[in-house]
Amino acid sequence: MRLDKFICESTSLTRSLAKKALHRGDVTCDGVIVKNSGFKVEASHQIHLDGELITVIGPRFIMLNKPVETICSTIDEEYPSVLSLLDIAKTEDLHIAGRLDVDTTGLVLITSDGQWSHKITSPKKECGKRYLVQLADPLAEELVEQFTQGIELRNEDGLTKPAQLEIIDSHQARLTITEGKYHQVKRMFAAVGNKVVGLHRECVGKIELDRSLAPGEWRYLTDDEIASI
Ligand code: URA
Repeated sequence: MRLDKFICESTSLTRSLAKKALHRGDVTCDGVIVKNSGFKVEASHQIHLDGELITVIGPRFIMLNKPVETICSTIDEEYPSVLSLLDIAKTEDLHIAGRLDVDTTGLVLITSDGQWSHKITSPKKECGKRYLVQLADPLAEELVEQFTQGIELRNEDGLTKPAQLEIIDSHQARLTITEGKYHQVKRMFAAVGNKVVGLHRECVGKIELDRSLAPGEWRYLTDDEIASI
């Protein structure tokens, strides 16, 4: 990799600031000042910027327990972005694999790997997302079959893909869907005359929200979790 690119991928410097640092003589390779932006960095090289060792940040995979009043946009708008909860460098390189509403809590997956995230969000991949749902009105047993057959959402043609509903008690259920239409869970229940009053994502594919994470906390995924998608 070119030295200027290596610096950009290891720090928050832009390409032009990396070039300026190089011209100033702030960068060394194995103890020797290097000013050439096109210098080829090898795996064995020790690169220092202002005396500090820098290394390329590899692909990142994160789970976060989203609290209410945060948004899954990459920029802060009316509420803070979930990315602002990550105390790590270069969050601008990360994106959110499947958004939750401002009032929805639970599992959010965040990554720098676009292909991995596509496997979660593309309806063709049929990656299940499981939600714990609290409802305003009592649940009827017939809903299990209705949700398996598909529901016609307001302002949309066709039916939702088969969804698995597990009724826990009169006002609480688990719902697994493989699509990610706008406000899908709320709209599915609205279509059958009920109202979602609480929504929490527990699981995406085989990745379960780590119960030791309090709202707002996060951790890196394990290799097995990454490979399970
Ligand atoms: N469905 C919704 O309605 N809201 C969410 O946040 C996620 C799924």
